[in-house]
Amino acid sequence: MFPKIDGERLWASIQDLAKVGAYTDSVSGLVGVNRLALTDADRDGRRLVRGWFEAAGLEVRVDRIGNTYGVRRGRRRDLARIMAGSHIDSVPTGGAFDGCLGVLGALEVVRTLNDAGLSTDRDLEIGFFTDEEGARFGTDMLGSATACGRLPIETAYGLADKDGTTVKGELERIGFLGPAPERVTPPAAYVECHVEQGPILATRGRDLGAVVGVQAISWYELTLEGKSAHAGTTPMGLRKDAGLVASRINVELHRMATSGVYGAEMRATMGRFDPVPDRVNIVPGRVICTVDLRNPDDAAMARAEADLFGFLKALAAETGVAITWRQTAQTHSVKFSEVVLSVITARMEAHGLSYERILSGAGHDAQEFAAICPTAMIFVPGLYDGISHNPREYSTPEACARGVQILCETMLELSKT
Ligand code: GLV
Ligand code: MN
Ligand code: MN
Repeated sequence: MFPKIDGERLWASIQDLAKVGAYTDSVSGLVGVNRLALTDADRDGRRLVRGWFEAAGLEVRVDRIGNTYGVRRGRRRDLARIMAGSHIDSVPTGGAFDGCLGVLGALEVVRTLNDAGLSTDRDLEIGFFTDEEGARFGTDMLGSATACGRLPIETAYGLADKDGTTVKGELERIGFLGPAPERVTPPAAYVECHVEQGPILATRGRDLGAVVGVQAISWYELTLEGKSAHAGTTPMGLRKDAGLVASRINVELHRMATSGVYGAEMRATMGRFDPVPDRVNIVPGRVICTVDLRNPDDAAMARAEADLFGFLKALAAETGVAITWRQTAQTHSVKFSEVVLSVITARMEAHGLSYERILSGAGHDAQEFAAICPTAMIFVPGLYDGISHNPREYSTPEACARGVQILCETMLELSKT
């Protein structure tokens, strides 16, 4: 009674999109994807996918933050629609699946319904959201957070990358500053299929994951101001070495995350570390670095942040290196809808698939929609320990097809009135 999605067509679309922004990784030698948000590569990927939306007969619109939607009309325009989507921007060292599986999976659902000549009661809407990664403009889920009301559009427009180039300027430049209002009307439900990006499903031998929520995320940009000096002549005791201070912060982050004090699942990462002047024989006078904290428990996250601030103040007093920080992203832990999850798991059971209820370690556009409508996600296992944000990221054609088949059936079930 449910149509079968075309796994080969889905796989071909994933591979075709992965050619846009393809690069050879200097560390691994593997071919990965670099489609940082609002770059030329992202523009080219957007054009390709928007063209596919149009070719599938969708009514396409681009909103004022560059989110791009396609609507497949149902029989009942008086009813709220069912949405599915994700993102097609990537980190600079990405793979083919992160985000793209959800967008191209939703497109595959539409193509499947078109081929089968099936109409739905409710409208179906699919989309891709601007800068989910946050790897360029410093805050994640930028487009979906704006669409769902967490982030004011003027704040989003004003964000700038390392070179001072703004979101609004880049949207204009690449031709994706659309006219449609950025705030979405809440759909009846939102569903997102995504690669897991972690080891749990593969380790436990599960076919798929039913995602029950997303853990809290908190990002900071730190500026450490010391004094640059000659590496050969400046006695160790006379230094204000911002590089050393950044290293001590990084060691403390590791200690905190592995201490168990903030729960077994705390994660902490210093992903960016930019010393100035960045030369072999100069003590770094300034460092800009970042902190990424994750925790499933909001209260534990708040304690970790407070303790980190205390550490930073004490470290500044001890070393004479001034430390300032600003929060660049914050989302609390999110719980998905048991109603949507029950549809997802019923469809998995109907196929005899093994699944795990799983909390997402990564941030997703779905968590923004969870604030405005019943929402849940389907995870597809990855290979090689589920490695992601790395060109090695991989999931099999069969696993992707399985996840998108469940996405299709879930959307059809939810669209019934
Ligand atoms: C998004 O990929 C994240 O950083 O969780
Ligand atoms: Mn993603
Ligand atoms: Mn990602």
